[in-house]
Amino acid sequence: MTAPIRVLGLSGSLRRQSLNTALLRAAAELAPAGVTVEIVDLAGLPFYNQDIDGADAPAAAIDLRARLKAADAVLLASPEYNYSIAPVLKNALDWASRPYGQSVLDGKPAALLGVGGGMGTSRAQYHLRQVGVFLNMHIINKPEIFVVNAPGKFDDAGRLVDEPTRALVAQQLTALRDWTRLLQAGRAATSAQAAE
Ligand SMILES: Cc1cc2nc3c(=O)[nH]c(=O)nc-3n(C[C@H](O)[C@H](O)[C@H](O)COP(=O)(O)O)c2cc1C
Repeated sequence: MTAPIRVLGLSGSLRRQSLNTALLRAAAELAPAGVTVEIVDLAGLPFYNQDIDGADAPAAAIDLRARLKAADAVLLASPEYNYSIAPVLKNALDWASRPYGQSVLDGKPAALLGVGGGMGTSRAQYHLRQVGVFLNMHIINKPEIFVVNAPGKFDDAGRLVDEPTRALVAQQLTALRDWTRLLQAGRAATSAQAAE
């Protein structure tokens, strides 16, 4: 049996009733066969500071790097703050990108989604795609998920109840699973060839 694709979810919002974190919870609930989704709590991660990085980096940063390294793919949910990426998420990516040359995001398959104002975080997501280019992440193109937080899409308990959005989340995870498997198969074939 093929091992499941382990997806690590990072949310750019720390607030208790965050809709972006709720979207990640929906992803965990809707994960198709062959996919598991775990969500990281970024609340304890300090602001990146080179003075505190290195051998005695904060435990939260070490843990984040280890979990990202072990993950097959990542799912990034960010609110849009002033037309860009929420700093909590950018900070997590900054920690993960170091030490220079040893980024745990290098070559990592990823998908983006978000819930926000009138444009559903699309501007933030396009900034995130730009960051992903430098980090050499392999972000899937489609389906894009820009959730405009119209009343009724989430219930009072923070569960995504909007059926078209639920279907899109499931579809995105399926695309991420297939993309991750394709990349893994390509890498395995390349190493087998190199070993010949
Ligand atoms: C500092 C700040 C800036 C924001 N800027 C934008 C923005 O540029 N575009 C947008 O659609 N929403 C903006 N919002 C609204 C957030 O997208 C909205 O509050 C969202 O629900 C927050 O995500 P969360 O529920 O995961 O915390 C902003 C909110 C804050 C606090």
